[in-house]
Amino acid sequence: MAVLPISLYPDSPLRQKSKRVRNIDGSIQRLIDDMVETLHHARGVGLAAPQIGVPLRVVVIELPGEETLALVNPQIVKRSGGRTVEEGCLSIPGYRGEIKRSAKVTVKGLDRHGKEVRVKGEELMAQALEHEIDHLNGVLYVDYLESMEKLFEVEAGAEAPEI
Ligand code: CO
Repeated sequence: MAVLPISLYPDSPLRQKSKRVRNIDGSIQRLIDDMVETLHHARGVGLAAPQIGVPLRVVVIELPGEETLALVNPQIVKRSGGRTVEEGCLSIPGYRGEIKRSAKVTVKGLDRHGKEVRVKGEELMAQALEHEIDHLNGVLYVDYLESMEKLFEVEAGAEAPEI
């Protein structure tokens, strides 16, 4: 396993549309392991493969105190409700912006063994799922702001985690 460097805004890898994974083999499992280690090292809640320069549809999410969720080819199949959140991103460290996210989402995808899974998330989990899947489409949360001037700075280690 390895800790990999995370691309920072406005690096171009963050803007590419990632490709579907056709075959879950050892290289994808190693990618997931590296992403989890990188996520732990960065003390974040979620990470998408394009953030470490790999344009494949793979995300990992780990809410504080919960098990790690790794999803390959995740797809949102249902969203409901809405809430305003203060969002951050490991690729835009030290900043937050206020945006709208769904209150609940249902996502389908594959686990690290290629088995089909369905995940229902609320609140921070729903936010993280939407945020990481946006990364796979080259979308960043700052795209939902009227302008970059709406971003505000926070101290390192601020209460709300980077996702
Ligand atoms: Co992010």
